[in-house]
Amino acid sequence: MIGTKGTVVAVNGNMVSVRFDGAVSMNEVGYVKVADKRLKSEVIRIRGEVSQLQVFEITKGIAVGDTVEYTGDMLAVELGPGLLGQVYDGLQNPLPQLAEAAGFFLERGVYLDPLPLDKAWEFTPTVKTGDKVERADTLGTVSEGAFTHRIMVPFGMYGTYTVSKIKAAGSYKIRDTIAELKDEKGNVSPVTMSFRWPVKRAVDCYEERLKPVDPMVTRVRLIDTFFPVARGGTYCIPGPFGAGKTVLQQITSRFADVDIVIVAACGERAGEVVETLKEFPELKDERTGRSLMERTIIICNTSSMPVAAREASVYTAVTLAEYYRQMGLNILLLADSTSRWAQAMREMSGRLEEIPGEEAFPAYLESTIASFYERAGIVRLKDNSLGSVTIGGTVSPAGGNFEEPVTQATLKVVGAFHGLSRERSDARKFPAIHPLDSWSKYKGIIDEEKVGYAHGFMRRGMEVEQMMKVVGEEGTSIEDYIIYLKGELIDSVYFQQNSFDEVDAAVKPERQKYTFNKLLMILASQFSFPDKNEARIWFNRLRQKFLDYNGSKWQDERFTALEKEIDEAIKKQSKGLDKAAEKYLA
Ligand SMILES: Nc1ncnc2c1ncn2[C@@H]1O[C@H](COP(=O)(O)OP(=O)(O)OP(=O)(O)O)[C@@H](O)[C@H]1O
Ligand SMILES: [Mg+2]
Repeated sequence: MIGTKGTVVAVNGNMVSVRFDGAVSMNEVGYVKVADKRLKSEVIRIRGEVSQLQVFEITKGIAVGDTVEYTGDMLAVELGPGLLGQVYDGLQNPLPQLAEAAGFFLERGVYLDPLPLDKAWEFTPTVKTGDKVERADTLGTVSEGAFTHRIMVPFGMYGTYTVSKIKAAGSYKIRDTIAELKDEKGNVSPVTMSFRWPVKRAVDCYEERLKPVDPMVTRVRLIDTFFPVARGGTYCIPGPFGAGKTVLQQITSRFADVDIVIVAACGERAGEVVETLKEFPELKDERTGRSLMERTIIICNTSSMPVAAREASVYTAVTLAEYYRQMGLNILLLADSTSRWAQAMREMSGRLEEIPGEEAFPAYLESTIASFYERAGIVRLKDNSLGSVTIGGTVSPAGGNFEEPVTQATLKVVGAFHGLSRERSDARKFPAIHPLDSWSKYKGIIDEEKVGYAHGFMRRGMEVEQMMKVVGEEGTSIEDYIIYLKGELIDSVYFQQNSFDEVDAAVKPERQKYTFNKLLMILASQFSFPDKNEARIWFNRLRQKFLDYNGSKWQDERFTALEKEIDEAIKKQSKGLDKAAEKYLA
């Protein structure tokens, strides 16, 4: 079939209006022909015989009368072995290769194969001729880095098929036919090791969705203990400019207990992206001893690329995540920043002259954000294995005001909220997650009640601190002052974590539990001091010891020695335990 053709009738920034002749559908890809270039675009509205397309490239040179070729295909990504370790733009162009092919300044209209075509993969079939298969069933496997990559029946092949041919074990390339599948009518389709799937459609080849329950350990104490994230759950990190959103995501991408990390850097500053690209390949994965990049995919669009490409990048990222979930793997998708994506939506909506909602964002902002986060989840696959996609998105509200539409829309759908505070980042208290504003609906690695007990000191300590600002230290009772000091202690030795310290940067759950109990012992102890000055001096000393303890290797000599000193200091000063806390210490 020859695709539909159209003619540009208007150009408005990154949106072109095109009169077409034939059939066109929403989200279909079209190419605008400019001189010898074809610029990739997506249909975002159809009115009668005029369609509006968002162009994923700079629209310079497009003129009324230019030809548009519709493809009949939705905006899609190619799925197959070879995705891991890649750096793509939002349209799945491999960036390093693109730079090589087109020079330092990325040229428009150059689209490359997302997967290496000449690489050979050792394929092992898992079905035999005559077997019945359905979409997403495994036909065979190849190894990709540390993983067993399932070569599956393309997700778009609905219905039941009979395997009429399957290749023997051997070395094949991505576009080689490895099987032939016959449908009920007798039509035969060749299947290769890769296939395409439209990015805006959630992959749904699983048996059931489960409730996210198990924590996804990040090794950040504040998260795992206080504001946990569940495997298959969602969370957001809103924070003002420079408060540490990107650094926090980088830490998480290195240490989170997942198989694969996909980073969607949509619309961040180019410098930041370059930093990530330089840093990642050098980082070692502690679990495998290999480069971290081998289990990472980076999708990046810097703020200098057209807005439409940012939108594409979040969808591309989540689709790749869903693909690997079908292999029974756990994937973490980090989107930085979703505000840039929302701004892209706003810009497009403005061009479409839609009725604007709050702050000129489109009325469908909420539902679009919700449907993105809904693609997270833990699922049971047909073979009963479990796979998960966890999504964490940063939000960068102007002026750090969390009341704005993107933060609010995100808050409604996520399971945990890690709000960064300007005050804390200015004070260099990192990670700058606010201990009182943040929350999580998930279960963490430590019993909730215990955590609540400790959190209570933090809250009351901050209240005392506020009060002291008004009435002064003299006007504060020694009991309140001790609560304040206990709150400060939790803040400095548990909430804050030194991401530049080799030991403290990432703390395993086992150690978190252990130190948390130590801290609990201090919180529950009833101390008496002759005056506030003595109290402060004592707590300062204890804090310093605790920080050294945090910085020493788990259970080595120094660790044990410091622990002994801490225990002795508490024992000497304590007049007994808070009755209410005894059950937590048992
Ligand atoms: N955990 C941390 N430990 C030490 N320093 C940190 C930490 N987090 C952030 N910083 C400091 O704060 C700076 C800004 O952090 P980051 O780039 O992550 O902010 P951001 O919120 O992503 O900013 P933007 O809104 O511009 O994207 C870092 O360059 C670093 O100096
Ligand atoms: Mg950032």
